[in-house]
Amino acid sequence: MRMMNSGVMVAVVMTMGWLMASATAILHKVGGKQGWDQNVNYTEWAANEQVYVGEWLIFNFGKRYYNVLEVNKTSYENCNDQAFIKNITRGGRDVYQLTEARPYYFLSGGGYCWHGMKLYLTVHDGLPPAPELAPALAPATSVACPPNSLTSSAAEMLFLSIALCLALMWTL
Ligand SMILES: *[C@@H]1O[C@H](CO)[C@@H](O)[C@H](O)[C@H]1NC(C)=O
Ligand SMILES: *[C@@H]1O[C@H](CO)[C@@H](O)[C@H](O)[C@H]1NC(C)=O
Ligand SMILES: *[C@@H]1O[C@H](CO)[C@@H](O)[C@H](O)[C@H]1NC(C)=O
Repeated sequence: MRMMNSGVMVAVVMTMGWLMASATAILHKVGGKQGWDQNVNYTEWAANEQVYVGEWLIFNFGKRYYNVLEVNKTSYENCNDQAFIKNITRGGRDVYQLTEARPYYFLSGGGYCWHGMKLYLTVHDGLPPAPELAPALAPATSVACPPNSLTSSAAEMLFLSIALCLALMWTL
């Protein structure tokens, strides 16, 4: 198969680039198994997480009731959901990349902040310990995983891309 369709070639290259880039993405599941919900102590959760620049948070929640808003310190302290910085809410399995070394504040509007749905965490500069060296030390709620694969359609695309790569390798 000498004459490879250039579109296919582009797809393969893009897939491989994406796989390599996403291999190092670290995702922190806010609240662990409980996700983003009422009556979870996110101060305790955050105390057990080491979060570095470039890593991601995922909020899992019932979007019918809750949302995720990035706010400033004052709003976090007062549970003020009005003048938020950013609305992160999408479908209830929402990822957010932490791009700066600074404190981040999040809360759920609709009064749920008063029921514990507020998160403060500090994002650190620098590289986390190499995964090969300290796999056992990784927080239980962190997984290395491509954030974009969380939606089923993206997962399907990934699956198809891998299948395509394998098919090409087979025919070459
Ligand atoms: C959450 O846990 C921290 C640390 O254990 C504690 O100081 C704080 O009072 C707790 N918050 C709530 C709302 O229970
Ligand atoms: C947070 O935002 C509110 C509303 O925009 C503003 O009044 C307040 O000064 C801000 N606080 C900080 C610490 O930036
Ligand atoms: C946040 O964004 C979601 C999805 O775009 C939207 O449905 C919701 O109304 C927004 N919430 C606020 C408080 O702006």
